[in-house]
Amino acid sequence: MQTILNNLRLKKVIALFLLLFIFNISNSLSQKTPKENFVTCNACHSIGEGKKIGPDLKGVTERRDEVWLIKFIQASQTMVKEGDTAAINVFEAYGKIPMPDNSFSEDEVKALLNYIKTYDPVAEKVAAAANVVVKTNPNFLENQNSFLPRNTKILFYISLIVIILLFFDAIFTKFIPKLLKIIIIPSAIFVMFIIIYIEATNLGRYQGYEPDQPIAFSHKVHSGENQIDCEYCHTGAMDSKRSGIPSANVCLNCHNNIKEGTNTGKAEIAKIHKAVESGKAIQWIKVHNLPDHVYYNHAQHVNAGKLDCTECHGDVENMGRMQQVNDLSMGWCLDCHRTKFIDIDNKYFGDKYKKYHEEIAKNIRKGVTVSELGGEDCAKCHY
Ligand code: HEC
Ligand code: HEC
Ligand code: HEC
Ligand code: HEC
Ligand code: HEC
Ligand code: HEC
Repeated sequence: MQTILNNLRLKKVIALFLLLFIFNISNSLSQKTPKENFVTCNACHSIGEGKKIGPDLKGVTERRDEVWLIKFIQASQTMVKEGDTAAINVFEAYGKIPMPDNSFSEDEVKALLNYIKTYDPVAEKVAAAANVVVKTNPNFLENQNSFLPRNTKILFYISLIVIILLFFDAIFTKFIPKLLKIIIIPSAIFVMFIIIYIEATNLGRYQGYEPDQPIAFSHKVHSGENQIDCEYCHTGAMDSKRSGIPSANVCLNCHNNIKEGTNTGKAEIAKIHKAVESGKAIQWIKVHNLPDHVYYNHAQHVNAGKLDCTECHGDVENMGRMQQVNDLSMGWCLDCHRTKFIDIDNKYFGDKYKKYHEEIAKNIRKGVTVSELGGEDCAKCHY
């Protein structure tokens, strides 16, 4: 008995040590080296090879104070917004392209700065040539969510088969009681009509649509991983009817320097250069399409309505391939107009809504919906 107990205790101690050992190894594995961390920066910065999207980082540790650098690398836009002159100056000097935030700890940034300071281009080239590894991530175009409407075809065929079987039975085998048939056949026909109705109203709607594009452009890479503002590319969203798709020249602002992607190498980015050289616009396939009889305006929603792109387009930052998340039906537009409060202090309205202000002050109402403004008038949305 005593020996068994001892044995058990010994085993427990050994197991604990093993666990600690494994934990330690995995911990040190998950900690990236400064060189690995610099891969993120490499898209926009070189060390000693001239400027890319951002400044050449050679000698930056002498140019700038360490505390400033740590803050800037963690959250440059916050510094710009707080009015730091040096941050604003360099932001403006680089065409107001915001440098993405980084979640590195202070120590990691310090290690990164030390890497930049002691960077030796010759040694790096030799090391790079020694291990050419192509990293591929099949997920950069994949989407986690499917917004395809549920398929009703199977239910349609099942109903059809049930009806045929019951008729067959009524004529030949006479197996199933009459009463049951009288109940089931009309129900099955009813189900089929509903399905035809649903499918017919869905004609011309493309919820879940995610076509392949001529260039494997990924919003996840640009908006997600690199935090490029939507408006940087979709310049019309704030002040015109259409958000618009950027021309190839906009791509070149960055891709004159970035010639290689992490997932696709040079192949996809080369297509941008080819398009510009040939003078032909890239033939992007339109994903969202409202019928011609509907009037929809982006500025009205994004600027006056202060809606976020995600409210209508979903989680674009995580979309590999662009997809249509909502069905863009009239019901969808109206559902929002009926419930969404507008900002009645908006400069566009002036003091047109004095009455509403008073009612809100008196607690008679919580707010004014888009519908109350006229957001359900047929003529507002239909030509
Ligand atoms: C998407 C492009 C992009 C990425 C990725 C990026 N930067 Fe920047 N960086 C910029 C731009 C553009 C500027 C110019 C300032 C501005 O626009 O805010 C800048 C400025 C800087 C500056 C200030 C340089 C100076 O001369 O004052 C430092 C330091 C810096 N980046 C470090 C980094 C580090 C370190 C990383 C990686 C962790 C990184 N950046 C990743 C675009 C980028
Ligand atoms: C209230 C809903 C709504 C919001 C908010 C919204 N969009 Fe749209 N967006 C639409 C609809 C509807 C269409 C389809 C328009 C059409 O076919 O005429 C569309 C189309 C687009 C298109 C295709 C080109 C075009 O302009 O027709 C782009 C690009 C786009 N949106 C980007 C954006 C961006 C970027 C934002 C945020 C700044 C945004 N959208 C906010 C509803 C919205
Ligand atoms: C503000 C800078 C910027 C603009 C503008 C821009 N890109 Fe990019 N693009 C990047 C960055 C950063 C990467 C990531 C490079 C990497 O993987 O190291 C990238 C990567 C890519 C890739 C390769 C993706 C991969 O992982 O293999 C393609 C393709 C691409 N961009 C196409 C476009 C197209 C098309 C446009 C114009 C509509 C465009 N880009 C505009 C910054 C930009
Ligand atoms: C680097 C440039 C770039 C940035 C940044 C960018 N987009 Fe796009 N966007 C494109 C390009 C190019 C297309 C056309 C190809 C496609 O559909 O993927 C597009 C397509 C779209 C479409 C579909 C248009 C259609 O055909 O109906 C929507 C919606 C959209 N973007 C929304 C956004 C939102 C929201 C953001 C910010 C989170 C954003 N985009 C950021 C370049 C960009
Ligand atoms: C997520 C909410 C939302 C969705 C979805 C939405 N809208 Fe709106 N819409 C608003 C808001 C908010 C305003 C008020 C903007 C303002 O303050 O002027 C508005 C205003 C409008 C107006 C102007 C109304 C007026 O009285 O001047 C029109 C027209 C309009 N929307 C059309 C559409 C169409 C067409 C669709 C569907 C394709 C749509 N909206 C979908 C939120 C939405
Ligand atoms: C907020 C915007 C909005 C308002 C207000 C609106 N509609 Fe629509 N309507 C739409 C949109 C978007 C579609 C396209 C739906 C689709 O393609 O599925 C549409 C489609 C239609 C259609 C075509 C049938 C269909 O469902 O596709 C008819 C008919 C119609 N509307 C009538 C009206 C009438 C009548 C009114 C006034 C009582 C009205 N609409 C008010 C946005 C609106």
